[in-house]
Amino acid sequence: MKLSQEEQEMLNGKYGKAAKKSMEILITLGEIFDADSMVEVTGVQIAGVSYANLDEAGLEFLNEMAEDGKVKVLTTLNPAGMDRENWQALGIDENFAINQNRAIDAFAKMGIITTCSCTPYLIGNSPHFGQHLAWAESSAVCYANSVIGARTNREGGPSALASALTGKTPRYGYHLDENRYGEVLINVKTFVSGTDQFGILGKFVGDKLVELGKKIPYITGVSSATVEELKSLCASVATYGGAAMFHMENITPEYNKYPKPSKLVVEISQDDMDKARSELTDSDIEIDFVSIGCPHASLHEIATIAKLLEGKKVKKEFWITTARPTKKIADQAGYSKTIEDAGAKFAADTCCVVAPIKGRFKGIMVDSAKACYYGRAKNKFKVKIGTIQECIEEAIK
Ligand code: F3S
Repeated sequence: MKLSQEEQEMLNGKYGKAAKKSMEILITLGEIFDADSMVEVTGVQIAGVSYANLDEAGLEFLNEMAEDGKVKVLTTLNPAGMDRENWQALGIDENFAINQNRAIDAFAKMGIITTCSCTPYLIGNSPHFGQHLAWAESSAVCYANSVIGARTNREGGPSALASALTGKTPRYGYHLDENRYGEVLINVKTFVSGTDQFGILGKFVGDKLVELGKKIPYITGVSSATVEELKSLCASVATYGGAAMFHMENITPEYNKYPKPSKLVVEISQDDMDKARSELTDSDIEIDFVSIGCPHASLHEIATIAKLLEGKKVKKEFWITTARPTKKIADQAGYSKTIEDAGAKFAADTCCVVAPIKGRFKGIMVDSAKACYYGRAKNKFKVKIGTIQECIEEAIK
């Protein structure tokens, strides 16, 4: 790889041990993917933050990097394994909390903003069109590439950290125009609306991508989409199809930059949507847990939940997972009080997937297709998908 003078000096150790180690990681990655040079990034999102993922080996690596490493660009964190202020009320073990805080402290020492959210684009790590990034949360990667038109590969935790400490990433994959073309036309022949339906659409599209061995869908037939619907779709298509980007006609910014695929065409009917929905609901489910906020709930979603819960009482464990800054605005707006008076709980900084709650509940109801996948695969829950309103009706039943 061709390195600039600064990159070479980082590699030689002029900027310290962490920058040197980071440059070694990035060069190795670049060589694997045939990158000819580095590109400067304007922002980083680090995943794998939960102590359940890191364990002692990961923590040792972080502490080593934190000895002299300092971030060069705006860097935020993915959800941790617990709400940092409210972990006891959510039933998190004290030892886990101590270890989780050790990890967060190491990130903070490097100058990383410890917001712990998978929707960095809602809380200030918000790139604009064409900017290069090194993000490592699959749903956020898909959102950045597709909805914003920024450019990022799907990084791992160590490579994202290496980019944060150097401000660079190897120029390959989604940083290059030639890898951003739609490969399969997905024609949606039915009306799609709401976070649950966009998640179900993402599951259908994701499953098709796997079947066809393709990575980038070009979706037509969707008349409008909100931020919340798009974040749900991004999470789902990334989970089920490994997609890091899609185009959506008349909605995403690069939809007419590249030719529309015409050779491979798939249609989605209402029957297909119904079938995909039924695959996300276990028939013998006994629901004892409801969670909204995968990806992390926006202020608009919290306002909706508050309105639906006003004057009611939940009878099941009910979490709203969101970013701490969003929760703080919800506090000021009075939404949090309405929600907490109803007996629901905020789980800021974390979510129903990364929190260590495996086996604690029998069945979970969510509005997110991604949460269905991991609820089953990671936490061994039975799952059911529904609208936000249906989730709340279940919680108060
Ligand atoms: Fe975010 Fe957790 Fe869902 S990290 S995308 S809320 S699984």
